[in-house]
Amino acid sequence: MSNRVVAITGGNSGIGLAISERFLQENYKVAIFARSVERMQSLKNRSPDNVLIFSGDVGSTRDLENFYQQCSERWGGVDVVVANAGVALPESILDVSEESFDNSVNVNLKGVFFTVQKSLAVLNERASIILVSSIQAQRGAGIWSVYGATKAAVRSLARSFAEELGGRGVRVNAISPGVTETPILNKFGFAEETLANILDKVAANTPLGRIGRPREIAEAVLFLASDSASFITGADLQVDGGLAQV
Ligand SMILES: NC(=O)c1ccc[n+]([C@@H]2O[C@H](COP(=O)([O-])OP(=O)(O)OC[C@H]3O[C@@H](n4cnc5c(N)ncnc54)[C@H](OP(=O)(O)O)[C@@H]3O)[C@@H](O)[C@H]2O)c1
Repeated sequence: MSNRVVAITGGNSGIGLAISERFLQENYKVAIFARSVERMQSLKNRSPDNVLIFSGDVGSTRDLENFYQQCSERWGGVDVVVANAGVALPESILDVSEESFDNSVNVNLKGVFFTVQKSLAVLNERASIILVSSIQAQRGAGIWSVYGATKAAVRSLARSFAEELGGRGVRVNAISPGVTETPILNKFGFAEETLANILDKVAANTPLGRIGRPREIAEAVLFLASDSASFITGADLQVDGGLAQV
């Protein structure tokens, strides 16, 4: 798979970082789009010739256009797009402010839509697009109403994009991680003990008895990007230890 190019939003932390590292191992050229340069720079330092970093906000279509233009100028096009950047804020209905609602939709829905739309100008033949949804797209939980709705929208986009882009030979799939050990868990605002109790409960309710590791999500993304998945499009791959099935 050398000389293949992957573009990853949010490729500097948690699941996205594991995806960046896994594709680098497979000799992909890796283009990372996120806001924090510091967290991207260490990956760039490790493999300067194979990593492109771009500081931008997925809510900005101009940033996305500039990112893909740089990918194209440097490597001629993009083979794999991973729309991974996302935010998750647990809030009960009455606690949701207009600002936090708009931010979730801006990053998780608008960001994903335009991450794909702006990639179309530079996509190579037989490209693969992977959208990071969540098992929360298909489960109900009060504090996740807005987040779950944005992730259900992402799952829907995978279906519509698959239909529209199939004629170009472009495959589009969603991936739905279960609860996964990443920095996002510490952004929820829970006290340490509360978070630990929640994670224990999640693990107890999961058929495989634990939460996920970022590397396990990255392996599934790599599979969807590869020719091993050449007849899979419009699907949603659950990587959750079975949590959403029970
Ligand atoms: N961890 C889980 O349990 C879990 C479960 C299901 C689904 N997911 C989904 O998996 C994806 C990755 O989450 P994670 O757990 O790896 O969380 P994370 O460690 O907090 O990473 C989130 C990433 O998104 C980027 N990002 C956030 N807002 C952005 C913006 N406006 N513009 C550009 N980049 C932005 C962040 O980079 P900067 O801050 O540098 O911009 C960071 O790289 C998300 O879509 C999340 O919803 C996670």
